[in-house]
Amino acid sequence: MKTAVINGATGGIGQAVVKALLDAGYLVVALSRRKSFNKLKDFLTSKNLQIIVTDEGPDLTFRMVKNFLQDKAPDVYVDAVGVFPTKLITEISLEELRKVFEINFFLQVATLQPFLKQMANAGHGRVIILGSQAGEIPLKEDGLYGPSKAALHMFCKIANLELENQGVRVSILAPGGVDTEMWRKSELAKKIGEIPLLSPARVAEEAIKMIDNPPGKEENFVRVIQPGD
Ligand SMILES: NC(=O)c1ccc[n+]([C@@H]2O[C@H](COP(=O)([O-])OP(=O)(O)OC[C@H]3O[C@@H](n4cnc5c(N)ncnc54)[C@H](OP(=O)(O)O)[C@@H]3O)[C@@H](O)[C@H]2O)c1
Repeated sequence: MKTAVINGATGGIGQAVVKALLDAGYLVVALSRRKSFNKLKDFLTSKNLQIIVTDEGPDLTFRMVKNFLQDKAPDVYVDAVGVFPTKLITEISLEELRKVFEINFFLQVATLQPFLKQMANAGHGRVIILGSQAGEIPLKEDGLYGPSKAALHMFCKIANLELENQGVRVSILAPGGVDTEMWRKSELAKKIGEIPLLSPARVAEEAIKMIDNPPGKEENFVRVIQPGD
């Protein structure tokens, strides 16, 4: 049975990806903060789901997954962790910027990196990172989130370059607005009101397509999707 690890499994997109991976027949390892466990309650009866708590940090998380998978590298790794604060550049403090980078960049990189090493040693692996359209396109009031996503995108592009000859492909799925708590609770959503949004299920469907059909070497491995795509 193929295995998949999903970081940020408790989020709107994360839960949709868990469901899509279970439907596709994967053994899914869902990474969750202890306080967020109950968000995965719909899946608790699935015998193909294992939840692993991440509160003790990326190193222990990796060791727990490695033990559970009996030292085998997962076939697939998906990351859907993130926060989405918005503010004008002139109003941002460095402290706020560091906090956003801590989650949207450093935490994700720290969690991903040992899996990348393990996949490279195994000679195979598919990694899909939830980036954002905002990591590619500058948007007003996006000086916290946009730069953190741009840094994450570049890290993943370099990881893909370095590891593709070892059988590991790293791609970025970069949606526009998605109908999850992240969007609904954002200052931006309050300000601009109702707009067309992607559903989390649509984003998860795209993630599965990207897992099944890795882009060729010559193709762009950042996949931007918009409502209606
Ligand atoms: N929604 C959108 O419009 C949209 C658009 C483009 C890209 N994205 C990207 O898609 C991904 C998933 O977003 P979503 O819409 O599903 O958001 P969401 O529902 O708010 O989920 C966010 C996820 O990140 C986790 N998380 C947040 N802060 C964390 C922290 N300090 N430590 C560990 N985990 C933390 C949450 O864990 P808890 O459940 O424990 O809080 C949850 O699993 C993110 O990378 C986001 O940037 C979203």
